[in-house]
Amino acid sequence: MSSNKAPKNCVFYRNQNWIYPRIEKGEGIYLIGENGKKYIDGCSGSAVANIGHGNKEIAEFAKGHIERIAFTHLSRWTVDSIEKCAEKIVSWCPKGLNHVYFVSGGSEATETAMKMARQYYVERDGNKSSKWKIISKWNSYHGATLGSLSMTGTIGRRKIYDPLLTNFPKISQFYHYRNPWGARTLEETSILAAKELETEIQRHGSDNIAAFISEPVVGSAAPGSHPEKIYFDMVREICDKYDILFIMDEVMAGSGRTGKKMASNHFDAKPDIIVVAKGLSSGYTPIGAAVCSSEVFETIMVRGSGNFIHGHTYAGNPLSCGIANKVMEIIERDKFIENCAVQGNYLMKKLEDLYNYPIVGDIRGKGLMIGVEFVKDQETKEPFDVFSNVRGKITNNCLEEGLVPYPGGGSVDGVRGDHILLAPPINITKEEVDLLYEKLEKAIKKTSEELQGVIA
Ligand SMILES: Cc1ncc(COP(=O)(O)O)c(C=O)c1O
Repeated sequence: MSSNKAPKNCVFYRNQNWIYPRIEKGEGIYLIGENGKKYIDGCSGSAVANIGHGNKEIAEFAKGHIERIAFTHLSRWTVDSIEKCAEKIVSWCPKGLNHVYFVSGGSEATETAMKMARQYYVERDGNKSSKWKIISKWNSYHGATLGSLSMTGTIGRRKIYDPLLTNFPKISQFYHYRNPWGARTLEETSILAAKELETEIQRHGSDNIAAFISEPVVGSAAPGSHPEKIYFDMVREICDKYDILFIMDEVMAGSGRTGKKMASNHFDAKPDIIVVAKGLSSGYTPIGAAVCSSEVFETIMVRGSGNFIHGHTYAGNPLSCGIANKVMEIIERDKFIENCAVQGNYLMKKLEDLYNYPIVGDIRGKGLMIGVEFVKDQETKEPFDVFSNVRGKITNNCLEEGLVPYPGGGSVDGVRGDHILLAPPINITKEEVDLLYEKLEKAIKKTSEELQGVIA
């Protein structure tokens, strides 16, 4: 039974148990409520508003673009802003990824990559190709549509839709803090996690596998978790050995968020397809894309049928492409990615002090994509039971302080496990990081006090 806290209007909100504060406007890293209360947007919505709110340059650009053209369908027309955006995205991706298939968001993008992988093998090997399964991981998130949810390994999000999902194989995540092998070092976890890919391929037969999908740095499922470089070296080697495409899901970690243009660059990873969305347009308009190699593109589009059997009406709409291109130009010009790396390191160092609170179990991440995991017992890593509502308490205490975190859970067994993702706009200043930290620390202190008696 819900507590019916959501506003009573015509909107079908996501969660009836949530009081939805009304936001009047956004300015830089702040969201401003109708009562004038200022919140630091500590998660950029969900790692989306990368250059912050209320950017005048984007507003002016959008006005000009709207006055020039409303919409063209990508199946019939091309527009300069679409071409420029594709060129810019390619320049941000690892070398060799040079064909951009536009969509309108992250789920559409991962699902596009999935279909692209399947069509690649059909075009290459003929209709009889048996390669179709996508191997993915537990504790991963790739989207909410049925194809992307089939690849997703977040139990809570899958459970009730299970009968509708394709039963794709899943292997363990490089979630070092709770790795299933008892590995002591991140390198060991990285190696053992990559080895599972080979075992899983052998189990199913490589003739039945089209692709493997991974996030470079995990988003909502186990925020901030990442492997060492060796993981992606091994993945590349295994994918080549068994003739399988490697899809990197950069929906959350890409577009500058981790202190590199794409998070793949931290590991010198070499995927066949990269998937981007969210921060690509900094949330000023919906956009996503699957960016593939020449081999994938030419097999389907040059040597093959020349027709990718897929598409969405709003995909590649000129306004979204124009805005995304402008966002990337601003990020380059104002050196926000460099800033992200500097402020990310600075914030990470400050966060180390939070281990003084007994409920803080693990802090990990890259750039300004940082996860904080909460535990009942720092020594044993025992999670809180779900009734303690730790993620809810932390979130409410943060909001009271004027900080918006991105809460989540279920990383232990689908139900237990509480964490937050910190992902403020990447143009945040040092002073604003100090303020963010101050608010977070107060919220964690208050939550620790509220949990006295429950903490081990
Ligand atoms: C890594 C990752 N992939 C895919 C998605 C799905 O994107 P969207 O919500 O835009 O459909 C998300 C969303 O959080 C994500 O974090």
